[in-house]
Amino acid sequence: MKSKKGYLITLEGGEGGGKTTQAVSLCERLKKAGKEVAIFREPGGTVISEQIREVVLSAKNKKIAFTTEVLLFQAARAQIYEELVLPSMQAGMVVVMDRSRDSSVVYQGMVRGFGKKMIEQLNNISTRRTFPDLTLLLDVPVDKGLKRRENSGTMNRLDMEAKNFHDKVRKAYLQLAEEDKSGRWQVINASKSIDQVEEQMWKVVSDKLGIKQ
Ligand code: TYD
Repeated sequence: MKSKKGYLITLEGGEGGGKTTQAVSLCERLKKAGKEVAIFREPGGTVISEQIREVVLSAKNKKIAFTTEVLLFQAARAQIYEELVLPSMQAGMVVVMDRSRDSSVVYQGMVRGFGKKMIEQLNNISTRRTFPDLTLLLDVPVDKGLKRRENSGTMNRLDMEAKNFHDKVRKAYLQLAEEDKSGRWQVINASKSIDQVEEQMWKVVSDKLGIKQ
């Protein structure tokens, strides 16, 4: 299924930037503005993708091979795009995703060193060449992000990586945003309060979608 009727917004960034909370508030605002909205997260979002999530993120699976990690994130993505994202786009909805293809570019491609090019090829298979129309990078200094994450409860396998890993993640995201030629990346200062971050995001989204404030 190939479609370009809807509008795809992805929320990206390292740990503790508040993506999940902000995805929900953004959807509420979009609905109030009369938009038909769908909200999904990666890895996960379908029964099969949630099963894959359990395997790839479980703190118990320390033995997971790196190539297994790469392919499991892609498998989870392929399933949610087939089942939910592409049909929602085809139906003309605004789709808000808590992480998508750029997470693989950053975590597996740039930080783990698999290479951007190879990951983008895999992303093109799993998403059927679907790119976000808008990507909001919720940027927060690593220490602050990790502190928020620790306070919020459970840590998954990747949260538990060393600080150096998270530094690389932040740098890689900022690099992608800076090198962007498509104009889809917008950096949001996620150190601010939840309400302030919500306002920054709404300014960008309402502007892009032509919603009157
Ligand atoms: P999650 O609990 O959803 O964390 P967050 O709130 O940070 O989004 O965990 C998702 C983790 O999986 C996160 O550490 C990033 C990682 N990830 C990848 O490494 N590659 C991917 O393609 C995706 C989608 C996520």
